[in-house]
Amino acid sequence: MYNIYIIPKLTKNQHSIAFYPKFAIITLYKFSYRLYRFLIIQSVLLVLIRISASFMSIIYSAAQPTGNIHLGNYFGAIYNWAKLQDDNECIFGIVDLHSLTVKNNPTELRKRIYDLARIYIASGIDPKKSIIYRQSDVSEHAELAWILNCVTPIAELERMTQYKDKSAQHKQNINAGLLTYPCLMAADIILYNTKFVPVGEDQVQHVELARTIAKKFNNQYGDTFILPKSKLNKISARIMGLDDPTKKMSKSATSEYNYIALTDSPETITKKIKKAVTDNGSEIHYTLDKPAIANLMTIYHLITGLELKEIQSRFKGKGYRDFKTDLADRIIDFLKPIQEKFNAIEDNELDLIFKSGAKQAKDIASKKLKQIHQTIGL
Ligand code: AMP
Ligand code: TRP
Repeated sequence: MYNIYIIPKLTKNQHSIAFYPKFAIITLYKFSYRLYRFLIIQSVLLVLIRISASFMSIIYSAAQPTGNIHLGNYFGAIYNWAKLQDDNECIFGIVDLHSLTVKNNPTELRKRIYDLARIYIASGIDPKKSIIYRQSDVSEHAELAWILNCVTPIAELERMTQYKDKSAQHKQNINAGLLTYPCLMAADIILYNTKFVPVGEDQVQHVELARTIAKKFNNQYGDTFILPKSKLNKISARIMGLDDPTKKMSKSATSEYNYIALTDSPETITKKIKKAVTDNGSEIHYTLDKPAIANLMTIYHLITGLELKEIQSRFKGKGYRDFKTDLADRIIDFLKPIQEKFNAIEDNELDLIFKSGAKQAKDIASKKLKQIHQTIGL
């Protein structure tokens, strides 16, 4: 409680209102003093929040709801996203519009969208800390993609590795979306003033193109976009296929023996690891000229946290069989809690997360798009 002694002294002018009852004046002073103190504390807090927010980076990443999410997706991307969410403002998209570049069954696509959200959450992405949303819920992505189409040279799009690979893989369906895919991806990223994009190695080329497109736009219309950079986890940026260690582990691989899906059963994991390609010899030793065992050892390292040297000495004198049996058991144990969480998340929980995520994402995206409209004269 304040007492009369801390009320500032009246000035001469203020004495001229002394005809008010003394009680009213004291109450008025008490009130203004409290208000003054409250406002000062509020502004100091606001300044502190702004300062700390300016040190936080905006992180954006996304995955397509296609195929089975595998250990490559997990360690190359999702696991790193979860680690970033305490110290950054993170936005993670389920980029359903991207997945339309290949043929989909609508019922299956809807299920995959929900399952991908389940994977995000089961892998530790917390919707209270990060924004999780469906790309198609925020129409600003598609509109900005169109605008970016109009500043992106076709030649830049034609040289993208993913475009070349996918158009070779889907010869009967080389649609325009396959070519302009990186413009939509650039829109996803720069719509949110993103600084860093944590991805696996295969997506670095697309993030670089997003940076080039943002630069082009800025040169043409004035500073509008932050230039994004990719963020890689060196060790896990490129997990290789189990059936062919010269190519990356891939959701769209023709054989399911290429990958371990996060939802694979213990029996399937054991079978897939047993069948995984190995190199000549039998020694558990990491060298680049033995890509198969190097890849399996990398997975062992990521799963257990043990250094490569420790793994080598643990399996000294033992062969591939012992190593593979242990690796399979460890993957099974590692995935167990993720799978339990995955199975426990109901669709209606996800509906609420999608609703809240869409609102938060749209709030940022619509403001940015309004600014872009003004900049380009729309
Ligand atoms: P996608 O499978 O194309 O939807 O990829 C989702 C994320 O996982 C992207 O950041 C990819 O770069 C990453 N990713 C995909 N495959 C691998 C892999 N084999 N190794 C490491 N990261 C990967
Ligand atoms: N192209 C990415 C992939 O296939 C998915 C993606 C779409 C993405 N938009 C993005 C990744 C924006 C990072 C940022 O994996």
